[in-house]
Amino acid sequence: MTGIKLRSVYREDEAPRVLYRLLEERNEEINISHRAMPTWRAHLAFVRSKPYAAWYLLEQDKEFVGAIYLSKMDEIGIFVLRAHQGKGLGKKAIKALMKRHPRKRFLANINPRNTNSIGMFEGMGFCHIQNTYELVDGD
Ligand SMILES: CC(C)(COP(=O)(O)OP(=O)(O)OC[C@H]1O[C@@H](n2cnc3c(N)ncnc32)[C@H](O)[C@@H]1OP(=O)(O)O)[C@@H](O)C(=O)NCCC(=O)NCCS
Repeated sequence: MTGIKLRSVYREDEAPRVLYRLLEERNEEINISHRAMPTWRAHLAFVRSKPYAAWYLLEQDKEFVGAIYLSKMDEIGIFVLRAHQGKGLGKKAIKALMKRHPRKRFLANINPRNTNSIGMFEGMGFCHIQNTYELVDGD
């Protein structure tokens, strides 16, 4: 097994398809911001809008196994395909991202039910600094 490589979403033709597959794996434990699956068209428009400061696919052994981004507000978002989780890829990818894009501080917004992600970020030295509440019209 080789190390993890960060491949720019904007240089890989396959990126929109891989990112869509990752979205399909989300569930209520993982998901904070999007509730429903976007249409393919809406997804493409979102990718093309270059919403993040940096956005990469995670490549291992010539296979795309996940994605990671750094938002314009220094928030890290990471998704590893279920079949590849628990093998240390998440941690390696975050370290690589932070090395490539140094910041004074990094943030991670995590669903409180996402114990894997909380365990990973806390294990890397991230501290819990706030709880965010929301009220959605119609809830
Ligand atoms: C969260 C996620 C990115 C972690 O990636 P991963 O490659 O599976 O995690 P790793 O194998 O690198 O594990 C990282 C660390 O987290 C720890 N960890 C994993 N599951 C844990 C749990 N349930 N409780 C505590 N720690 C846990 C591991 O012990 C590991 O630490 P170690 O290397 O010191 O043993 C991955 O599970 C994922 O993509 N989940 C779905 C999407 C998601 O939740 N994204 C995060 C949104 S903020």
